Amino acid sequence: MRVLVTGGAGFIGSNFVHQTLATRPDVEVTVLDALTYAGSRSSLEGVLGDVRFVEGLVQDGALVDSLVADADVVVHFAAESHNDNSLTSPGPFVQTNVVGTYELLEAVRRHGVRYHHISTDEVYGDLALDSPERFTEETPYNPSSPYSSTKGASDLLVRAWVRSFGIEATISNCSNNYGPRQHVEKFIPRQVTEVIDGRRPRLYGDGLNVRDWIHVDDHNSAVWAIIDRGQMGETYLIGADGEVDNRGVVSQVLELMDRPGDDFDHVTDRPGHDRRYAIDWTRLRDELGWQPQYRDFRSGLAATIEWYRDNEAWWRPQKAAAEARYAATEQVL
Ligand code: NAD
Ligand code: DAU
Repeated sequence: MRVLVTGGAGFIGSNFVHQTLATRPDVEVTVLDALTYAGSRSSLEGVLGDVRFVEGLVQDGALVDSLVADADVVVHFAAESHNDNSLTSPGPFVQTNVVGTYELLEAVRRHGVRYHHISTDEVYGDLALDSPERFTEETPYNPSSPYSSTKGASDLLVRAWVRSFGIEATISNCSNNYGPRQHVEKFIPRQVTEVIDGRRPRLYGDGLNVRDWIHVDDHNSAVWAIIDRGQMGETYLIGADGEVDNRGVVSQVLELMDRPGDDFDHVTDRPGHDRRYAIDWTRLRDELGWQPQYRDFRSGLAATIEWYRDNEAWWRPQKAAAEARYAATEQVL
């Protein structure tokens, strides 16, 4: 099976490539990645010799067409992925997330190639802290940020291409991932590397926002379950019952790194900040028989902290620029 992985030099895509090469000897991987600030060849260290790596944009229709023509399956991870960046500079989100998905859909339509679309639970908006509700495949779309609205737009393009043109596609909407090789702009790596550098973690607003954490390897094993056994044209939500509020995450990071659990600062809140995400992944379990392997967030977090301690050469080149972007808008409250 020849698999084209877009965004394979980013966080989730690179972990997908590592997992695929380790578990699926029958798969040949081509990576298409623009190597933006969020992508790095170093995320594919150890496997670069085993994949075909193409540097380029998903909006480049001619390039995408030639790569899709040579693939049996496309797994589309490439995106502008960070909410805070979408608030200061939304343009690249429209180009990559919407126009890039359009080019891939047209190419898979021309060549009759199977397509899996990677998306996010943020397309559903947010939930109240005190509600028992969780997102399901039937929850109406209600995105809040430029990031989540462009992801929602891309999902709707996929649904339209399925219905109008009969392409063979599936969609997954996953909750917040954690694990190795996540860019230091994101919440957990940012706090871990701040502590390594002797600074205090930073919580947006009151810090009570809830995210539903899943280990990146569980996200990727679910993606393979959908590629292998998912029903064409359908959407699957991916989660692992990992709801924790941001204060709880920061306290655990601090305790695991031998610092007092309350040694953090509150900073300017994110405009439009979604309060809570929560995923009901019953369909994935009942229809496809998938289960997450990482059931204990604290031990997964401890392993992730170890990874950042052991791999400073991977994250250090990103750190100053990421903190400079935050410094432009963020103030300690
Ligand atoms: P990331 O920012 O770490 O990686 C994105 C990758 O895409 C990078 O390698 C970057 O170079 C590449 N890229 C960006 N623009 C491109 C373009 N125009 N053409 C080609 N390549 C381009 O993102 P991530 O966190 O790994 O997210 C991957 C996917 O998973 C995204 O679609 C995101 O919406 C989705 N997702 C992420 C999470 C999460 O918690 N991180 C959860 C659910 C879904
Ligand atoms: O839910 C899935 C989504 O999860 C993905 O679609 C996105 O690509 C991914 O970036 C992530 O979005 P979030 O906005 O939830 O993740 P982020 O890591 O930016 O922030 C997680 C929470 O932590 C959120 O409530 C904001 C808060 N936060 C973040 C940073 C960077 C802080 O309190 N302090 C911080 O310094």
